[in-house]
Amino acid sequence: MTTGKTAYEARYAAKEYYWGTEPAAFCAELCGVCPPAPGRTVLDIGCGEGKDAVYMAQQGYTVTAFDLAKAGIRKANRLASERGVKLHAYVDDINTFHTEARFDIVYSSGTLQFLTGENKQGFFEKIDRITKLHGLVYLNVFVAKPFLAPAPDWDPEETLWKPGELFGYLPDWKIHRIDEIIFEDRSGGIPHVHCMDLMLCEKMRERGQTAEGPARAAE
Ligand SMILES: C[S@@+](CC[C@H](N)C(=O)[O-])C[C@H]1O[C@@H](n2cnc3c(N)ncnc32)[C@H](O)[C@@H]1O
Repeated sequence: MTTGKTAYEARYAAKEYYWGTEPAAFCAELCGVCPPAPGRTVLDIGCGEGKDAVYMAQQGYTVTAFDLAKAGIRKANRLASERGVKLHAYVDDINTFHTEARFDIVYSSGTLQFLTGENKQGFFEKIDRITKLHGLVYLNVFVAKPFLAPAPDWDPEETLWKPGELFGYLPDWKIHRIDEIIFEDRSGGIPHVHCMDLMLCEKMRERGQTAEGPARAAE
């Protein structure tokens, strides 16, 4: 169950960008593995105020992005127009979103803690469906470590993942990188430390397809 609301609505109401406007470091890494080219498409799930989505649009991808916070989408559109790029940004919920489109890159940073337990499996089936063959998925999740205190701006809608849990999804994809990092953050104004698991992987076949070709029903 989700409330359909996020505490980020109020955080994004300020004129200043809560997360700043500089892209996350792994956006450049992603551009290296799947270089921008005309018609290459990206979906940013939980784009916040748009710093990563707008950066990727500036690199030349056609970018679609959504977030539950209306204020975030307004700011993402503002950033895109200030930087002179097109962005298709709208309000949607990671737990229930639907798209008929397929993407070369599906990206989500710092948002999967809002995916409820009962929606996890369905989310990854959807990710498999909406990623083009040889498309890339980059995901990261905050994970629970007994030696780290919860972040001060953590809200009740958020659930930490188990260490390594993310790596068990999309098992038949090609893993380009999996990693676990610990880093300092100052969101909410109080310094704190996060642990994050991240995964960059590539879709190698369509669902139901075997190495020899389309799967056949047992005779
Ligand atoms: C830690 S922020 C990350 C934002 C952005 N990806 C970035 O790195 O700047 C988490 C984001 O998840 C969004 N969010 C919260 N619940 C959501 C939901 N159910 N569906 C989609 N987005 C949600 C929040 O509004 C917020 O923008």
